[in-house]
Amino acid sequence: MRSTVGPRGEPRPRSKGDPVPTLAVTIAEVRARIAAAKSDARVRGAAEPTVALVPTMGALHKGHLALVQRAAEVADIVVVSVFVNPLQFSESEDLDRYPRDLDADLGTLAGDAAGAGAIVFAPAAGEMYPDGKTQTKVTSGNVGNLLEGRSRAGHFDGVLVVVSKLLNIVQPDFVLFGQKDAQQVFVVSRMVRDLNIPVTVEVVETVREDDGLALSSRNRFLDERERLAARVLSRTLEAADSAADGGIDSVIAAAQSAGMGEPLVDLEYLSVVNPTTFLPVDDGYHGKAIVLVAARVGATRLIDNETVYLGG
Ligand code: PAF
Repeated sequence: MRSTVGPRGEPRPRSKGDPVPTLAVTIAEVRARIAAAKSDARVRGAAEPTVALVPTMGALHKGHLALVQRAAEVADIVVVSVFVNPLQFSESEDLDRYPRDLDADLGTLAGDAAGAGAIVFAPAAGEMYPDGKTQTKVTSGNVGNLLEGRSRAGHFDGVLVVVSKLLNIVQPDFVLFGQKDAQQVFVVSRMVRDLNIPVTVEVVETVREDDGLALSSRNRFLDERERLAARVLSRTLEAADSAADGGIDSVIAAAQSAGMGEPLVDLEYLSVVNPTTFLPVDDGYHGKAIVLVAARVGATRLIDNETVYLGG
């Protein structure tokens, strides 16, 4: 695939003939595009062309591009869905405030070697939900009501409905998610396992700014002071990681003290869970654990997490 950066890493100007993402807005269209891409791949010698799906809600940033790049490594055909799913917003959340700019998203993908060759599926809400909310539900169970699910009632059930629909529409071999949304990764992986959905879930590491802030579509809502204050999330996780040898109590104490004293930040939860159950670890637990943090920075809610190894 042709590189979109020049010899010194500078963006290479687009020229005529550079690939651009292919846009599909209906289910029939995206299926036809995938079928055509598979035929092309067969002509180019791929016996069983594979498809990777990157589900997104748009407002694409470098974190999404990392998913797209990984998708292009694992599969022959990359499909990026761009759909702000109304089912995963609770009534108190502002669905209308969520950033939507499809042209900008297509531009972001076009400027990336892997993204430029992608099929973009950007349906309208009426295409995905012609009868309004689906009658059939996919529920995320107990884990879906904890942490993010506690402050965002019904959020993960809405995520699972749209992810199952996308998996049925695209029928990918791989589906990619970012580790930043660790609880989403957990509930989707459980759904895939529980319902025997024939897809491999690939998880890509969180992409961070130089100062540690995890990339998120919501970061654009932070003003200058809030942006500086938001560093407290990754500092909290770094403190937790440094204290992990001392066990769960040390982790909580270190993380709490690192998270305090930032007036613009309201810590919503700090939790340490077992990655195999996503339930809080017991006292005396040793081994791999995920430390999760959620905070309101001004009016913007941010989340982050870090995998640690608890000793003690
Ligand atoms: O992580 C997201 O952006 C969304 O929850 C997802 C997976 C695209 C479903 O709408």
